[in-house]
Amino acid sequence: MSSERKDDHLRLAGDQSRLPRSGAGFDDIAFVHHALAGIDVADVDLTVRMPGGRWDAPLLINAMTGGSDATGRVNRELAVAARETGLAIASGSVSIALGDPSVAGTFRVLRDENPDGYVLANLGVERSPDDARRAVDLLQADALQVHVNAVQEIVMPEGSRSFARWPASLEAIVAAVDVPVVVKEVGFGLSADTLALLTDLGVAAADVAGRGGTDFVQIENARRPEGGYEHLFGWGQTAVACLLEAPADAPVLIASGGVRSPLDVVRALALGARAVGVSGGFLRTALDGGAEALVAQIREWQAHVAALCALLGAATPDDLLHTDVIVGGETADFCRARGVD
Ligand code: FNR
Repeated sequence: MSSERKDDHLRLAGDQSRLPRSGAGFDDIAFVHHALAGIDVADVDLTVRMPGGRWDAPLLINAMTGGSDATGRVNRELAVAARETGLAIASGSVSIALGDPSVAGTFRVLRDENPDGYVLANLGVERSPDDARRAVDLLQADALQVHVNAVQEIVMPEGSRSFARWPASLEAIVAAVDVPVVVKEVGFGLSADTLALLTDLGVAAADVAGRGGTDFVQIENARRPEGGYEHLFGWGQTAVACLLEAPADAPVLIASGGVRSPLDVVRALALGARAVGVSGGFLRTALDGGAEALVAQIREWQAHVAALCALLGAATPDDLLHTDVIVGGETADFCRARGVD
């Protein structure tokens, strides 16, 4: 049943990633152009310090899949692309492999193909501290990515209905593992209150994973013959809204959810993300053209991100924090409503 669910997710997310999308808020962010502020592209250094290691670029192939033969093959393509480009990569939830060792290899391929890369193991927040340690061991992971996905659980026919224990469970996981913990949403955003709580719980990094990209309400609703959860379409905050209202002492921020271009990457970095994750956009390329096509896309993105940094006078991704940004559209409305300057 669970392997089937992984195949459903891959198929439905793959279909979704072919649709034109523009609700992720990135188009509300514009840069003021300063014609004499540029620097040499050769002087741009994209490496970033992340909890648990350095990344060659502020980019992540974000959590997606594993758990069936078909998803294992996709993981191999993603892992080869990560190895060839030096990108960090996260597994899909390894939960299924903890209960069924016969599918462990469909996740382990991420490490086997990419022995020296930065790999994150992904697991749901309600799993035990022991499961968290096993997830890290399975991939010899550099970090543990813990997903908080209450909206998805509500729409999933087989989903959880008990969320009250999640903060305590997260605290226990953080205490149990000896690698940094990255908490992520799955496409509905992390509010300022949530980010403040994550800081209190000792979480090293938080991936805001906002709405407007891959939409798990639509995916899980499509898996129900009768539907019924249309009222949740559009739930949550975009990644840019989350970044704009993030508290100053938030964990290291990762942005994801509807990232479609190198310009979206640079926008997110300028709003305070240390790195940017892409799932649906990279999945589509991998499904269509395999690792080779994904390597070409990632190299192109890296080159464009460096060029945009040079244009904006930023020698490092951190320097983008000092660029002049204009916030418009729904994101400006959000900032007014939430009292964000
Ligand atoms: C996901 N995502 C996800 N997230 C997670 O934390 N654990 C998981 O197992 C999965 N599984 C999964 C499968 C597939 C096929 C996709 C496309 C995505 C969610 C993902 O990491 C990300 O948060 C969202 O997809 C939003 O980013 P994009 O797709 O808009 O770039």
